[in-house]
Amino acid sequence: MTEIRLFKNINVVLGVSGGIAAYKVVDLTSRLVKAGAIVDVIMTEAATKFVGPITFQALTHRPVVTEMFSLLQETEIGHVSLGKQADIMIVAPATANTLAKLAHGLSDNMLTTTALACRGPILLAPAMETGMWKNPATQANIALLQERGMHIIGPEEGRLASGADGLGRMAESDEIFEACRWLLGRNGTLAGCQVVVTAGGTREPFDPVRFIGNRSSGKMGFALATVARDRGGDVTLIHAPTALSPAYGVQSIPVETALRMHDAVMDKISTSDVLLMAAAVADYRPALLAEQKIKKNEGSRFVELVRNPDILQEVANRRETDNRPRLVVGFAAETEDLLENARKKLARKRLDLMVANDVSATDSGFAVDTNKVTLLDTKGEATPLPLLSKNEVAERIIDVVVAILKKKDKMGK
Ligand code: PMT
Repeated sequence: MTEIRLFKNINVVLGVSGGIAAYKVVDLTSRLVKAGAIVDVIMTEAATKFVGPITFQALTHRPVVTEMFSLLQETEIGHVSLGKQADIMIVAPATANTLAKLAHGLSDNMLTTTALACRGPILLAPAMETGMWKNPATQANIALLQERGMHIIGPEEGRLASGADGLGRMAESDEIFEACRWLLGRNGTLAGCQVVVTAGGTREPFDPVRFIGNRSSGKMGFALATVARDRGGDVTLIHAPTALSPAYGVQSIPVETALRMHDAVMDKISTSDVLLMAAAVADYRPALLAEQKIKKNEGSRFVELVRNPDILQEVANRRETDNRPRLVVGFAAETEDLLENARKKLARKRLDLMVANDVSATDSGFAVDTNKVTLLDTKGEATPLPLLSKNEVAERIIDVVVAILKKKDKMGK
């Protein structure tokens, strides 16, 4: 995993309490460090029975706090200051005992003391046996913690320490990581903004088992949705069939055809601020849809095609009314005359920003992890970007989206 902009210079305090799931937190620590965060690990005494502090120290390159009254640790790390400087605190695993202490404001170890002093958001990942989780005392503690603004992820169903299957297994480290990312971004530059992103290639069926499609994997659109979420946007991702999973906190609307994507977009745009159309929408669909699988010798009558609605064009046509997004971004996937064709679409679809996408190279465009695009503003002025990961392309596009929104705010638009 590479660095993630959101985590740059971010202080994460990771509180580990005593449960077998502590071993999964090793992976979480590694992810946070690789993403660019500064991670301070605090372990309860019980936690040290499951994983050694040296493991976390080796990953974070920082001392691990295990004792409440260690003078050496206090001078080096600064007692309550850990909580004060934390941009976010994660407690994983959060045992029934630690949850109870947090709910009642106890501060009898370094983890609970730091949580009391923490000014940033707190994310709790409970892990315990099913009976303990379902116990009314634990449930009341959870309700109290939620009421006070703490965020809970999991627990999930699965195999528990006792060997039994049931509810109580800690959420996986990638889920905790994603929830942390969502929480960190909530007050970002797109906070309060309704963002609609489309992704993937629509499928136009002509019988129950076959369709006309394209090579879009959804990677570009999913990256945009994730970055918009990282900046605090309230993101809806309308996507064609893909192997990808939407990011934590992103509302996903799966669709198959261009007609369904059209309906889903139209349903959302009157309440959205930003529309980013990264989907490869089929311009045509088969005129006929056979009820049964077409036999070899009768296929030719199904090749007739009819036009699909142009979603962006329809949005452009409504843009003078109140029911329109404040900002619309289109993509143009081109194999020749990239800028000329993209500029025509920019004008015709009355976009605020056009992303001209060179899909002729093997490392750019459809189904790869990198992309090479040129951003065109309303006047058609070009800003070419180098070959970048799709995640970084998404960051650059959202940078421009934020800048345009700010400009519109100033102009009262
Ligand atoms: O999904 P990946 O594998 O990561 O690939 C990413 C991508 C190459 C699909 C993406 O970066 C991209 O370029 N998407 C736009 C592809 C495309 O359909 O371009 P177009 O030039 O045909 O369409 C222009 C714009 O109109 C697009 O924003 C498209 O979403 C929109 N459109 C097109 C047809 C249609 N019927 N309705 C539309 O709204």
